Amino acid sequence: MSFVKNRVLITGASGLLGRAIKKAFSAQLQYWEVLGTAFSRANGDLIKLDLNQKSEVLKTVQNFKPHVIIHCAAERRPDVVEYQAAATYQLNVEATKTMCEAAVECSSWLLYISTDYVFDGKEPPYQVDAQPHPLNKYGLSKLQGEEIVKKNHAEFAILRVPILYGQIENLEESAVTILWKNIRNAVSCKMSDYERRYPTHTDDVASVILAMTERKVKGENMGGIFHWSGDENMTKYDMAIAMRSVFSLSPDHIIADKTVCTGAPRPYNAHLSSDRLENMGIKPKRTPFKQGIKAVLQPYVN
Ligand SMILES: NC(=O)c1ccc[n+]([C@@H]2O[C@H](COP(=O)([O-])OP(=O)(O)OC[C@H]3O[C@@H](n4cnc5c(N)ncnc54)[C@H](OP(=O)(O)O)[C@@H]3O)[C@@H](O)[C@H]2O)c1
Repeated sequence: MSFVKNRVLITGASGLLGRAIKKAFSAQLQYWEVLGTAFSRANGDLIKLDLNQKSEVLKTVQNFKPHVIIHCAAERRPDVVEYQAAATYQLNVEATKTMCEAAVECSSWLLYISTDYVFDGKEPPYQVDAQPHPLNKYGLSKLQGEEIVKKNHAEFAILRVPILYGQIENLEESAVTILWKNIRNAVSCKMSDYERRYPTHTDDVASVILAMTERKVKGENMGGIFHWSGDENMTKYDMAIAMRSVFSLSPDHIIADKTVCTGAPRPYNAHLSSDRLENMGIKPKRTPFKQGIKAVLQPYVN
């Protein structure tokens, strides 16, 4: 039996999350025609598209005529955003506006990836209708992106996710795997044991997005805000201890640091409730942290 394929365009497809999303759709090529866009890492089948070039974006979307756009590209490093606020605004906010315009022109459904950093972390868990209050410029830029998506586009979706890890190209790519650089050797090292995090595997997020998209193309209303989060509450110290333990390494040299993080302010505990998706029956597996991180770090073990 042959199916009419839907077309999906994924921005940021060279990035940590975008790669996992592209992989998930590409595993269903009998149903999906997939176009991934990238910027500095546009290789293989990814096309180069600078999202700050509005006319190029409109032309690319118009040519491909996607049924679905997963808008993943962003500047996501809070400490970089603090001193590159203008460039971040351009990418996280203005380019989101362009993507929305392009989606409207082509009658595409757009799903925008956002973050738990839209919350201040004082009253977890956060439901989808909780009041955002970002503490840093990154969280603010993503919230401004959300506001553009919501304005006049009730059918578009916003998916907020917490700290991510998954298959990496280098340890610096994820705020989780970067910890391994400091803790893999038996040298005394302090790790933050204050802010609470919910490390979430990119493959799990990709499964959620695929499930949401399948519902949408079948005609279900998938508009508004959604949350998806892992369910293991950990500090960076807890993650470090877990990483050492899965490789049977002693945790003795890791020192718990109970002070507030330095750099851009971070929420204490911005736990996202996944209730809305789970109540809709969208609840793919959550990869246990130890299992997920072991597979991801294996190539980086001495
Ligand atoms: N990582 C996390 O822990 C986390 C947590 C919560 C939410 N999020 C959200 O999840 C989404 C994906 O994050 P990520 O971690 O996958 O980010 P990432 O690994 O840093 O990837 C960023 C992507 O944006 C692309 N990009 C950068 N500048 C561009 C430009 N001018 N034009 C076109 N594309 C451009 C990059 O392309 P090149 O690399 O090819 O230049 C890359 O594909 C973001 O919206 C982020 O806010 C991430």
